[in-house]
Amino acid sequence: GVANIGVVGLAVMGSNLARNLASREGNTVAVFNRSYEKTEHLVTSHPEAGFVPATSYEEFAASLAKPRTAIIMVKAGAGTDAVINALVDVFEPGDIIVDGGNALFTDTIRREKAVRETGINFVGAGISGGEEGALNGPSIMPGGSDESWVTLGPILRSIAAIAEGEPCVTHVGHDGAGHFVKMVHNGIEYADMQLIAEAYDLIRRGTGKTPAEIADVFAEWNRGELESYLIEITAEVLRQVDAETGLPLVDVILDQAGAKGTGAWTVQTALNLGVPVSGIAEAVFARSLSSHPEQRAVSGGLPGPTEGLRVEDPDAFIEDVRRALYASKIVAYSQGFDEIRAGAAEYDWSIDLGAIAKIWRGGCIIRAQFLNRIADAYAETPDLPVLLTAPYFVEALERSQSAWRSIVGAAATAGIPAPAFSSSLAYYDGLRAERLPAALVQGQRDFFGAHTYKRIDKPGTFHTLWSGDRTEIEAEDTH
Ligand code: 6PG
Repeated sequence: GVANIGVVGLAVMGSNLARNLASREGNTVAVFNRSYEKTEHLVTSHPEAGFVPATSYEEFAASLAKPRTAIIMVKAGAGTDAVINALVDVFEPGDIIVDGGNALFTDTIRREKAVRETGINFVGAGISGGEEGALNGPSIMPGGSDESWVTLGPILRSIAAIAEGEPCVTHVGHDGAGHFVKMVHNGIEYADMQLIAEAYDLIRRGTGKTPAEIADVFAEWNRGELESYLIEITAEVLRQVDAETGLPLVDVILDQAGAKGTGAWTVQTALNLGVPVSGIAEAVFARSLSSHPEQRAVSGGLPGPTEGLRVEDPDAFIEDVRRALYASKIVAYSQGFDEIRAGAAEYDWSIDLGAIAKIWRGGCIIRAQFLNRIADAYAETPDLPVLLTAPYFVEALERSQSAWRSIVGAAATAGIPAPAFSSSLAYYDGLRAERLPAALVQGQRDFFGAHTYKRIDKPGTFHTLWSGDRTEIEAEDTH
């Protein structure tokens, strides 16, 4: 075989990734798609790429140099298993199969185990950056074996985005670690988007500015500590005018947000791990709430405050919203990294959290200046238990917290939903609290279920005889 890398699945993401690979020095790219038309279209429309097209899996395998390395770019799900099985049939021990889709990490763990039995390497790799990123440089989060990384590393480094001179790819950890981290990336993406949406809504309702004027606000924010791809594209979307009606596009788009599931996975996984990713969860739920028109239709008449937001100084208000957004964003990332830390412990991955922050600085949807601060925090304290307790973030929260509180309060008073802002603040205050009412919850659990409790003043596990004489006894620990 002449090709050092192959791509299976030539929809937009696959085609773009194949073109990206082909454009880098040293790569010869074999391409295969179930229906040959797509292969033919790609090869004829990009003669400069020098693709090696295949009409069957056998031909595809034959066109690859050993160890054969192929990246699967098909819609995540059952289709992925079919392609893996077909490749396993034509590949040999030592070859490498990479799944570049948004697979659920537990599927990746299962697949890696099954494929490993054949001696073939299986690598689940998260790829972020959408179509544009696939073409010009994505952020790549590969899992899989150390052996596969030897061959795969240089290839992936050749196509990844570059941030501060470093390619946005690292060997995240074994088996499903890459897809796990990509999943959390998407959860953070959901939170970031929801926070920006809440900021926009508050500014619009509080100041009466038009979407185009608010676009200017975001463009301005993009020059400061909030600088990020999502803030940048928010300005673009808000500035867009609908050709048909002449209205701001954002006013003619149906306000029901879709989701393909990765945000929900992040939250489901966090629930299993016992990690409070409340900001991410609110972002997922906000999309769910928006997408129930039948419920919203019968709820419009529910009582609310008679007055809307009263803003005396629009500029000061906007600055407060900006600070609330920044503080909430710190919480969302802190929660996301907490989930990665917990996932690594649960699944026995050694994940370098600072390296994750670094590979998210370029190429991916959540790319932002801010990630440098996270990388710095982990460089200083690699096993930092709570990201937002790093000195830089503490200082930022100190600057922001009073604005944050006033914005959350103002939103509640005016009846404007700000679920991600307010849940982030509640999380923050929960973390800070010296005593939590969890003590009462323990008392209640002990009352109705003899679930026992621990005491602050001595070791051991206790139960109060609630339906007896209410004396306390030592008990077996039942959690
Ligand atoms: C990325 C994105 C991408 C994701 C889309 C859509 O990193 O490039 O996360 O993988 O599929 O953003 O996600 P939703 O349809 O769930 O919003």
